[in-house]
Amino acid sequence: MSLRKIGPLQVGAIGLGCMNLSQGYGARPSDEQGERVLLAALDGGVDFFDTAALYGFGHSEELIGRVLKAHRSRFTLASKGGMAGVSFPDGVKRVIDGSAQAIRRNCEDSLRRLQTDVIDLYYLHRWDKRVPIEDSVGAMADLVSAGKVRALGLSEVSCATLRRAQAVHPIAAVQSEYSLWTRNAEIGVLDLCRELGAAYVAFSPVARGFLCAEQFDPQALLPNDLRRSMPRFQGEAYVANLKVQAAYTRIARAAGCTPAQLALAWLLHKAPHIVPIPGTTSVPHLREDLAAADIRLSAEVMAQLEATVNTGSITGQRYSPQASGEVDTEAL
Ligand SMILES: NC(=O)c1ccc[n+]([C@@H]2O[C@H](COP(=O)([O-])OP(=O)(O)OC[C@H]3O[C@@H](n4cnc5c(N)ncnc54)[C@H](OP(=O)(O)O)[C@@H]3O)[C@@H](O)[C@H]2O)c1
Repeated sequence: MSLRKIGPLQVGAIGLGCMNLSQGYGARPSDEQGERVLLAALDGGVDFFDTAALYGFGHSEELIGRVLKAHRSRFTLASKGGMAGVSFPDGVKRVIDGSAQAIRRNCEDSLRRLQTDVIDLYYLHRWDKRVPIEDSVGAMADLVSAGKVRALGLSEVSCATLRRAQAVHPIAAVQSEYSLWTRNAEIGVLDLCRELGAAYVAFSPVARGFLCAEQFDPQALLPNDLRRSMPRFQGEAYVANLKVQAAYTRIARAAGCTPAQLALAWLLHKAPHIVPIPGTTSVPHLREDLAAADIRLSAEVMAQLEATVNTGSITGQRYSPQASGEVDTEAL
């Protein structure tokens, strides 16, 4: 796989998102299946694994620690803090907390679960708007000084927040949603990352299955499936979006690749500082996704794609009002 730069780090063009091995879409796969996916990724040339304290409330990090510990020198490890599971009398709940104390605690917990001495890229998962970004990034900078993390990143931030953070410590990467159907990055953050020499790590790069030509009955999704609360996957919006999906699938067929590969190849062609991190619970899907790194798209296909799947042709917001309130991204 060709290499891309993330601040001081270099990684293969496509990484693996490891949320899906613990939560996300449908039932959690067994740990045996998670292990198969992680090892197949390593065998397939993946050298960039993305996880977070939040995913499965520590489960994703524990799995990675157990399965990949013996291979630690072969990959760049990214994790995130500032949003994690916290125990309450009625169970563990997701809490956004960007205080210095929480960041230090999250990082220590992650290091322990990951069974490693250092996390290569440590992101603030969400900017906690009650805490100045300078304070959260300052606490993360202390983790760099202490040798616990190597480089810093932010997730779902605006240009204004990114600039304020960069004034405290160099930001190696911004990780936010980017795909043909979610173009917020194009408002400003993508360009600002290029200007600052930071990578743009694209999460949900295959649009949570939508750009894989996946179709389902939204009513039949499991209660904890993230798509259940996403307006684009609901009711008339979803029906309208499936028509766009059909046109998109025809472009993939004509381009000689699968829909999932086309979505990833489009991102890789958009700019050299973009690193997509698709997530999957399936080894065949993983192999299909990784092969996208070798696909070449003509300018004509790029234009055709952008004209077909864009903010105008897609119906519905990407997030529910509650989730939108938790992000700091420039909204479309
Ligand atoms: N920073 C953040 O706030 C944030 C938010 C969301 C995600 N992330 C990160 O980004 C990663 C990826 O994002 P995501 O999982 O939300 O979205 P995604 O990668 O766009 O989509 C994942 C979905 O696509 C399906 N899929 C993947 N490849 C496929 C293929 N070749 N054919 C058919 N279906 C395929 C998967 O199903 P199968 O399992 O059946 O393959 C899964 O349902 C996560 O794992 C996580 O690390 C970060």
